[in-house]
Amino acid sequence: MEVKILTEHYDKPEFQGLDGYKKHGGYETLAKALKLKPEEIKNQVKEAGLRGRGGAGFPTGVKWGFLPENGETRYLLCNADEGEPGTFKDRLMMERAPHQLIEGMLISAFAIHSPKSYIYIRGEYFESLRIVEKAIKEAYSAGLLGKNILGSGFSHDMDVYSGAGAYICGEETGMISSLEGKKGQPKLKPPFPAIEGYLGKPTIVNNVESLAAVKYIIRDGVQAYRKYGTEKSPGTKLFSVSGNVMKPGTYEVPLGYPLKDLIEVECGGLKPGRKLKAVIPGGSSAPVLTAEEAQRATMDYECLAQMGSMLGSGAVIVIDDSNCMVDLLHVIMHFYHHESCGQCTPCREGTGWLDKIVSGIHAGTGRLQDVQLIEQVSQHMMGRTICALSDAAAMPALSFVEKFREEFEFYVREGRSRVKEVVANA
Ligand SMILES: Cc1cc2nc3c(=O)[nH]c(=O)nc-3n(C[C@H](O)[C@H](O)[C@H](O)COP(=O)(O)O)c2cc1C
Ligand code: SF4
Repeated sequence: MEVKILTEHYDKPEFQGLDGYKKHGGYETLAKALKLKPEEIKNQVKEAGLRGRGGAGFPTGVKWGFLPENGETRYLLCNADEGEPGTFKDRLMMERAPHQLIEGMLISAFAIHSPKSYIYIRGEYFESLRIVEKAIKEAYSAGLLGKNILGSGFSHDMDVYSGAGAYICGEETGMISSLEGKKGQPKLKPPFPAIEGYLGKPTIVNNVESLAAVKYIIRDGVQAYRKYGTEKSPGTKLFSVSGNVMKPGTYEVPLGYPLKDLIEVECGGLKPGRKLKAVIPGGSSAPVLTAEEAQRATMDYECLAQMGSMLGSGAVIVIDDSNCMVDLLHVIMHFYHHESCGQCTPCREGTGWLDKIVSGIHAGTGRLQDVQLIEQVSQHMMGRTICALSDAAAMPALSFVEKFREEFEFYVREGRSRVKEVVANA
């Protein structure tokens, strides 16, 4: 069942503005946080076990702990690029509750001693940009941003930055370069941004949902937060569900929630007469699950990793038997080829090669050995590049071919999709 913590007031339009937000307890947690020691906030976030919601699931409190203790200026950067196909939860959070994000960011900035933060919003999100900019103005007018916030002695400035709609700017080092006015190309790590980030200064990059969740950890306490989720994946998570379900949308459920319940209960199940074929559980870069695996999966970092997939950004793409896996992989490969920044040979050439091979199969000109070639190329693309975009393209390619090989081979032999027959015979 849905547990609405972050999304509790999302059905109320008033929650978007400062007055409406305050009516529901907005900024009370900031006032509470500013009376604590920054170290206490950091410890609570660590103890709550909050894991970054941007894809990798790295513990937020541990990341904050990497900042050097040398008094250097440090920046907080909110990753609102949301480029992973299938993901649309950050947009909802920014548009329904911009002050919730600002409050979470202020508490986080106070905890890490940061005087300045940026919200990097993807270029296509005009509406999110407008709403967040308005909320920041409201917060400045109310003395919630700027100098000596709520008389605490803590000062903080916040700004927004609109990207140009490149997927690679969602990668943290690419995002930092873009914010600096350079090409949005990732850099080799280490040094990690916590040591050397924006303008060469220590920088914490966190996802919208991670930063918003900080507020609830401080508001309700560690135990209340840990009441939800599993031991290693505590808390709730927003899942963006799309594809062949009756009610696509964003749902907040505890981590560890059964995937089949998310589909059946929250999303109202599949369209009448259709059978589940596959599920991509964590955005287009996550390896696909078969219908049988999806029945057993729970939505937490551990279970999905054990199944050879990942929770990623929490974008669940549901695929029924009317969909062709060759068709889907064709779209996915084209995306990653288009979005590769081109710095690394395995990524630049590999994504192009995969796109070309799958396009050939899709066009009916594929050869049987192409199916094996997809596997070989994918295997050579993983773990050999500056950032994880190369893996993000290789992982779905490999899993699609491994788990739906027959469908690919049929396409090659017959020059057409087998799905048409499945649908016709249903
Ligand atoms: C190609 C690529 C694209 C990414 N896109 C996003 C994104 O759109 N949003 C996001 O929060 N993280 C994205 N990430 C992950 C970020 O690099 C980073 O790990 C994350 O923002 C950290 O926030 P978190 O610790 O709160 O998860 C991407 C990573 C890669 C490799
Ligand atoms: S892996 Fe791809 S996107 Fe990432 S830095 Fe290398 S070429 Fe660019």
